[in-house]
Amino acid sequence: MSKEVVLRAEGIHKSFKQNNENVAVLLGVDFSVTAGEQVAIVGPSGSGKSSLLHIFAGLDSADHGSVCVAGEDMGAAHADERARIRRENMGFVYQRHHLLAEFSAVENVAMPQRLRGISDQNARQAAAALLEQVGMGHRLEHLPSALSGGERQRVAVARALVNKPSVVLTDEPTGSLDRDSAQQLMSLLSALSREQSTAFVVVTHDLSMLEQFDRVERLERGVLSPIKAAL
Ligand SMILES: Nc1ncnc2c1ncn2[C@@H]1O[C@H](COP(=O)(O)OP(=O)(O)OP(=O)(O)O)[C@@H](O)[C@H]1O
Ligand SMILES: [Mg+2]
Repeated sequence: MSKEVVLRAEGIHKSFKQNNENVAVLLGVDFSVTAGEQVAIVGPSGSGKSSLLHIFAGLDSADHGSVCVAGEDMGAAHADERARIRRENMGFVYQRHHLLAEFSAVENVAMPQRLRGISDQNARQAAAALLEQVGMGHRLEHLPSALSGGERQRVAVARALVNKPSVVLTDEPTGSLDRDSAQQLMSLLSALSREQSTAFVVVTHDLSMLEQFDRVERLERGVLSPIKAAL
């Protein structure tokens, strides 16, 4: 039985206008990821990896092409619909954690649940359980400013996964971490996404981590091509 496709992008083209000059970055990208699959996207700086991830997330739109998430067409949806599709199906981890500074670890992780209308008490319970799982059970009430870089990223991982999204998109999630913390964070993301059957798309520069992915794709000259195919 073939696995359910959770994100499919077809024929993605994107140019940016800069000083009256058109810079073509994406020249027909096709990509799909199935439930629970773990895919890395690599490529030179400036090749368009972050731009592509923004388009997958519906945070930016393609000039041509389509993106479907959990069977819903992001391009055809209005902004509020897109936000709902994102909220219900996607999680994000960025290079910098983007936690809310004035909220504790447990409140940050509870936030996506609250936005889905779950009660404060239940959201906090789910958040605390997941923080426990990522080894942050002893730091529930800490503000982000009182956590180390690696700890913040673990909280960010918990926040990305708390709503059990069908796909998590991450852009250089280990970029600000030392080697050991980076390895630990990536293993954690990988283990959690396997456990929840969450697809996991990670943009990374770190070639030493590619082994653990089911597939590796390289973005170069505007197109994606596989450098490690699915078995
Ligand atoms: N809003 C924008 N306006 C103009 N040009 C942009 C914009 N966003 C990105 N670009 C250009 O598009 C190209 C791709 O940028 P992008 O950030 O996607 O690259 P990247 O592959 O993520 O690079 P890195 O590995 O350095 O993070 C770059 O040349 C960049 O200057
Ligand atoms: Mg980038």
